[in-house]
Amino acid sequence: MAERIDGKAIAAEVIASVKEGTARLLDEKGIRPGLAVIIVGEDPASEVYVASKSRMANECGFLSVKRELPAATGEAELVRLIEELDADPKIHGILVQLPLPGHIDAKRIIQLVAPEKDVDGFSFVNIGKLRTGELDTAFLPCTPAGCMLLIERVRGRDLAGLDAVVVGRSNIVGKPMANLLLAADCTVTIAHSRTRDLASVIGRADILVAAVGRPEMIKGEWIKPGATVIDVGINRIPAPERGEGKTRLVGDVEHAAAEKVAGAITPVPGGVGPMTIAMLMVNTLTSAYRSAGMEPPSF
Ligand code: GUN
Repeated sequence: MAERIDGKAIAAEVIASVKEGTARLLDEKGIRPGLAVIIVGEDPASEVYVASKSRMANECGFLSVKRELPAATGEAELVRLIEELDADPKIHGILVQLPLPGHIDAKRIIQLVAPEKDVDGFSFVNIGKLRTGELDTAFLPCTPAGCMLLIERVRGRDLAGLDAVVVGRSNIVGKPMANLLLAADCTVTIAHSRTRDLASVIGRADILVAAVGRPEMIKGEWIKPGATVIDVGINRIPAPERGEGKTRLVGDVEHAAAEKVAGAITPVPGGVGPMTIAMLMVNTLTSAYRSAGMEPPSF
């Protein structure tokens, strides 16, 4: 039976270290990390995410600014707000919650966040730094950075030569995840919806990261015995066995079968999810340390 990788507990440890780092920065430099989160419109899932990001920032002792704009907000107004936050020395991290309403050019907006405040790691500068291995001055996207931390907890920091397979090629998870594993000297394969014979590709993986957004599409029997399995998927499916109209959350991996084969596996929920928010706090703290000319704590 696979070891259960407890993302909730590991995220709580990370948050405890962030709090210590915050106290030290305030004590030594009188600087409080500041995080601004912007949401446009009323997408229910986004509202939940933004509320938990702001709550966690408060808990970490940050200055936590939440800007909620109506769905009809014009692009020009959003541009002005980002420029104002870019110029505000009290703000060290800016996050524009995605998706944005259709009338706003999200690609343009994302690139207006100053790279040194881009705690999502979505700006071309930060993507380029990740791609070229300049990890010390980059911001790493939160979900892949959280996955890396979970992998290192299981495998240790030396991942050189391991076969890693990332299933999914999104800009938010799949592509940066593959680059992080490559920077750690893994042999990396990116698989996706058009990959031929996915089962045999997955069968090579010492480290498997699933980020496709399709419920339990990765079968337990495909997984290499002893593999480390990180399931990024969060899919809500009907659960009639729990009563009429009930639902439950499942990952992209067929968990019950996979845990019989894998060496270690994340649960859904309680695996990758809590790490994403924890890494946003890490990035904001890191930004505040850099702005103070101090070496940020490492995680
Ligand atoms: N929407 C879903 N995931 C994310 C994320 O990681 N960052 C932002 N800004 N929006 C999201």
